[in-house]
Amino acid sequence: MKILVTGGCGFLGSHVCELFRSHGWDVVAYDNLTKYELDRSGYDVEEARSHNRRFLESIGVQIVVQDVRDMDALTDAVDGVDFIAHTAAQPAMTISWEDPRLDFESNALGTFNVLEAARLLRIPVAACSSIHTYGTGINDEITEDGRHYARRPAAIPETHATLTGVLTPLHGSKHAGEVYSLVYGHTYGVRAAAFRYTGIYGPRQLGAEDHGWAANFVIRNLTGRPIRIFGNGLQTRDILYASDAARAFWNYFQRPVAGIYNIGGGPPHAISLLEAISLIESITSRRSEVVFEPERKGDLRYFVSDIDKAASAFGFKPSIQPREGLTKLAEWVSANLQLFGGSTGAA
Ligand SMILES: NC(=O)c1ccc[n+]([C@@H]2O[C@H](COP(=O)([O-])OP(=O)(O)OC[C@H]3O[C@@H](n4cnc5c(N)ncnc54)[C@H](O)[C@@H]3O)[C@@H](O)[C@H]2O)c1
Repeated sequence: MKILVTGGCGFLGSHVCELFRSHGWDVVAYDNLTKYELDRSGYDVEEARSHNRRFLESIGVQIVVQDVRDMDALTDAVDGVDFIAHTAAQPAMTISWEDPRLDFESNALGTFNVLEAARLLRIPVAACSSIHTYGTGINDEITEDGRHYARRPAAIPETHATLTGVLTPLHGSKHAGEVYSLVYGHTYGVRAAAFRYTGIYGPRQLGAEDHGWAANFVIRNLTGRPIRIFGNGLQTRDILYASDAARAFWNYFQRPVAGIYNIGGGPPHAISLLEAISLIESITSRRSEVVFEPERKGDLRYFVSDIDKAASAFGFKPSIQPREGLTKLAEWVSANLQLFGGSTGAA
């Protein structure tokens, strides 16, 4: 069996590649090796961009350095493939404000091309969407008790309204991708899923302030840099460990029921930014200086996924608890401090 993982050299993509390799599949990681937000991370950009690639090569993954915007290249690469996991994206809201064309072409056109490839080959496909598709209207539904954001019901199902509140280009481009997943299911019978992910974290996450907050916090804690929070720190997510996130693709391939699915940690894995920092500090035994900045346009204050639909459709069930997952992330960051311009100076 053979899988093509777009964005395979990215964080989530590399975990999808690793999982399918562990099941004996031939794996092609299709990636243009850009990861634009690294340019302003202060990390060793060249090393960071090739870190996951080197890991994948070591486990026998074939790397194709190409772009999902290029339909001809994609058509060549999918030859003989049984399943496509589409993780390639421009994932950062900040970059979507600055370069809406890049955002649109990477996310909307890129997803369209991947769906078209799956249609021509008559194979199933699962594409990463995001909770950004809900928009920011959820911010108006929550209450604050001083220590927490609260909301009833605690978990938000796929039937919740989408594109509410203030929107950015990223909301539009991710939503367009999942709308086309539905369209390809309805019109052409493609077994296409869109996974609305949130808060994925784990090893090989080159998190910076634009994308990948859990890793960014761990990196800043371990390299003695202050952690910047945009807002009051009560922002809450049901975080999801990378191997659990990757397993959604594996489970979906076993039971590919087309549709849109929330893929998160669910209510037991809900944690606020301030709680996550405390947990990280207790794992690393290092304190972090925390600096508060104004909230960023388009940020969602609260989101906890109702994951029942994915559980009943294809048995999705996260298993790694936040302490265990953040410990593994901290171990990986500690072993790779050179990637992050890392001194080990005390915070
Ligand atoms: N990490 C999260 O918490 C999170 C949350 C919600 C949704 N998602 C979605 O999950 C997916 C994976 O996210 P990630 O955190 O692994 O991101 P990532 O940036 O680590 O990985 C994305 C990869 O896609 C590649 N890429 C970008 N544009 C490309 C193009 N045009 N052609 C080919 N490759 C391209 C990049 O080089 C990178 O390796 C994205 O679709 C993202 O929107 C992630």
